[in-house]
Amino acid sequence: MTERTTPDDITAAVLASFARSPDERLGTVMRSLTTHLHAFVKDVALTEEEWHAAIRVLTATGHITSGKRQEWILWSDALGVSMLVDALANRAPASGGGPGEDGWPAGAATESTVQGPFYVPGAPRRGYGERIDEMPAGEQLWVHGTVRSLDGRPLPGAELDVWQNGDNELYAVQDPEAPESHLRGRFTAREDGSYGFITVRPTPYPIPHDGPVGHMLSATGRHPWRPAHIHVIVRAPGHQPVTTHVFDRDSKHIDSDAVFAVKPSLLRELTARSADDPERPPGITGRWWSLASDFVLVPASQEG
Ligand code: BEZ
Ligand code: FE
Repeated sequence: MTERTTPDDITAAVLASFARSPDERLGTVMRSLTTHLHAFVKDVALTEEEWHAAIRVLTATGHITSGKRQEWILWSDALGVSMLVDALANRAPASGGGPGEDGWPAGAATESTVQGPFYVPGAPRRGYGERIDEMPAGEQLWVHGTVRSLDGRPLPGAELDVWQNGDNELYAVQDPEAPESHLRGRFTAREDGSYGFITVRPTPYPIPHDGPVGHMLSATGRHPWRPAHIHVIVRAPGHQPVTTHVFDRDSKHIDSDAVFAVKPSLLRELTARSADDPERPPGITGRWWSLASDFVLVPASQEG
């Protein structure tokens, strides 16, 4: 009697088909993908009905994706894959060691986090202390700090490329009412590495949830919200750039970010300030908030 074909025979046949991939890395990736994908299908004993449903979800993901809407990356974000890839790529050294001989304070390298879909290159260059809100968008916030290298040395000329949402929960790129450069700006650190800008308090906002990812979130009892944060890419000559956020540590959803991007080292306190506070920067009137955040970059030569 001829032997019957088992599920494991099918897995073995697919693995064998990738045995002689001319691109060795591609062969490794495809064999591992096959191993884990087949194990998953067997583990949950995927039914034919569920498989058809999965194909419909993938098809809907393709249909909703456009130049302006990247549902595939949203899947990666909502399943934690974006953060995982980022964590593997950016294992930055935790610390530059003790204070250097020249007395610079020791710093821990700023941790990276997800870039998200709302970054648009080419934000306007703005001067120290200028504002990034170009229309009413919430309570006034002064963001300031210093950019340093891992050994504590200030990095004059470092660039901070900043973007965030306003109190309507939208980024400029999502908001037809907002000027293109609203809540976006590129700042240059001064001679002592310091930077500062005026903005508004970011608010929590939901990731786009009117498509397949949103259906998955509601069907699994998850929510689409991200805690309040400001995005920044910090770049400096001779250093590895870092794409990161600063989070309002008291924000709603800080413990349940829909895209798993919160890291404890990125939490910052927003301090309430009165109109007559002596530290009030020029350009702010009335009550305001302040947020202090230093950024520490790893030299390009230093392996993570
Ligand atoms: C964001 O922070 O802009 C973002 C990140 C991931 C998915 C959606 C939005
Ligand atoms: Fe964001």
